[in-house]
Amino acid sequence: MNPNKRPDNMERITTPALANAFIDEQVALVREQVGKNKVLLALSGGVDSSVVAALLIKAIGKQLICVHVNHGLMRKGESEQVIDVFGKELDANLIYIDASDRFLDLLAGVAEPERKRKIIGGEFIKVFDEEAKKLTDVHFLAQGTIYPDILESDGVKAHHNVGGLPEDMKFELVEPVKLLYKDEVRVVGEALGLPHAMVYRQPFPGPGLGVRCLGAITRDRLGALREADAILREEFDKCGLAEKVWQYFIAVPDFKSVGVKDGKRYEGWPAIIRAVNTTDAMSATIEEIPYDILHKITDRITAEVDGINRVLLDLTPKPVGTIEWE
Ligand code: XMP
Repeated sequence: MNPNKRPDNMERITTPALANAFIDEQVALVREQVGKNKVLLALSGGVDSSVVAALLIKAIGKQLICVHVNHGLMRKGESEQVIDVFGKELDANLIYIDASDRFLDLLAGVAEPERKRKIIGGEFIKVFDEEAKKLTDVHFLAQGTIYPDILESDGVKAHHNVGGLPEDMKFELVEPVKLLYKDEVRVVGEALGLPHAMVYRQPFPGPGLGVRCLGAITRDRLGALREADAILREEFDKCGLAEKVWQYFIAVPDFKSVGVKDGKRYEGWPAIIRAVNTTDAMSATIEEIPYDILHKITDRITAEVDGINRVLLDLTPKPVGTIEWE
């Protein structure tokens, strides 16, 4: 039997009862696989790695070592949520690394999108590798590989941001959700008690806000983007759009326009709203956000975010526009 092939008769996990049965089965399998050994996991706070973390905490408790690397390109409150949920509530063995300065220093002056992605992916591996080397006697690496990753790649999670582990990292993999589809991972996550917002969160690219702070990233513009994005998410939460829209965010380009604030000339960046619906991210349509909500978001962003003086709406479907701007 091919361990990377989902059996034809495997029932789709749609209910808490099915999720609990899956969890019990995986807890036993993981315990059998790793025994008393330690297991390392890169915990980004995304759905897949979070569900794997919660599952492994249930199975092996403190034998799991979670490493959360904050690359400085997280959305507002994300690293804090990882620390609260995993470090505090679930009492996980969590190593938190604030590597923001390392990433932002390397990215200074780099405007080309693919180079930015490579720097972020490469540095991520480096930081993670340095942590792994500090830990002795760890032979297992857990990954949030899910079934679409297997169908789309050679079986090892190969999303374009992380790009694979260094050759000299010899680990045996622990991939408890590798035969599950995304919707099943979410049902399992809820059954494990993870917060709804974490389990149903919108997709967020590995390079994070790095591909939304367009061109060469500066700390001030990145800060403005993070605040504007937090306002957009807050307003979408309040009016129910967060439950409905597939992906929504702000991008901030690296040019300014003239404006007026408090009777004075005020040069600022524009904040661009993007809100799209899709099933597979290959093509996407735009969400028709009601004008009263757009006005509210515009008022709040221009009043509350330093450096932003205009709010624009991206009306472009994919194709022609990709979902991200870079
Ligand atoms: P595009 O921009 O290609 O995005 O229409 C399609 C989906 O992929 C996400 N995306 C990424 N995810 N690393 C990721 O992990 C990346 O470099 C990356 N670029 C785009 C994007 O957010 C959308 O959901």
